[in-house]
Amino acid sequence: MNRVICIDGPSGAGKGTISQGIAAHLGWHLLDSGAIYRVLGVACQDRGIAWDDSREVVAVARDLAVNFTPGDDGVRVTLAGEDVTSRVRSELGGKGASAVAVIPEVRAALLSRQRELAIEPGLVADGRDMGTAVFPQAPLKIFLTASAEARAERRYAQLLARGESVSLPRLLDDIKERDARDSERAASPLTPAEDAIQIDSTALSIDEVLQKVLGLAVDRGLGMRGSD
Ligand code: DC
Repeated sequence: MNRVICIDGPSGAGKGTISQGIAAHLGWHLLDSGAIYRVLGVACQDRGIAWDDSREVVAVARDLAVNFTPGDDGVRVTLAGEDVTSRVRSELGGKGASAVAVIPEVRAALLSRQRELAIEPGLVADGRDMGTAVFPQAPLKIFLTASAEARAERRYAQLLARGESVSLPRLLDDIKERDARDSERAASPLTPAEDAIQIDSTALSIDEVLQKVLGLAVDRGLGMRGSD
């Protein structure tokens, strides 16, 4: 099944919102690959395994009992039956994800789990290496960016709305630190695929980005709901 739209880019560029919007519009499945790395970080924490202990982290990755279930207030994440949604979405969840994601064997162990989600009628895949490593044959690859300042401000508003107390300068530092770690790692670094189309969302609304991506999907014959 080759009907895959990849949405890659740095933290806070709006990939999650855009991917959900495209998937809902087309009636396609959604892969939030960051959530898989986040759950892995949480699972390691629960077992007292350090995020840089490659051998142990890979073992956890190989039999990660994770489930994603759509709910009224977004997707709920369960790990071996326990609801870990808020831990997975927290800042610490993001740090753990970024730390375990540098381990090449972890990325390899999670490949088939991600690829098996490419099923009819189509898949919108949100992540860092969807277009470069996981779905290199995808017919549409978007690399979504925004300035670090714009991304920190968006994240700040999101966390405040969820009642988490955060400092904007600290968020900006964290975003820059995570960008550097994601971009500089040897295994599947954050970099656009050669055939990716770059969209800078700094000055665009969510709807403007959605319309751009949907237009590109139509151009490639992917745009009609339920089409073949
Ligand atoms: O998209 P996110 O913020 O949920 O991702 C959390 C971390 O997981 C991010 O810092 C890098 C890592 N990640 C990755 O290495 N590869 C992916 N396909 C998705 C996320």
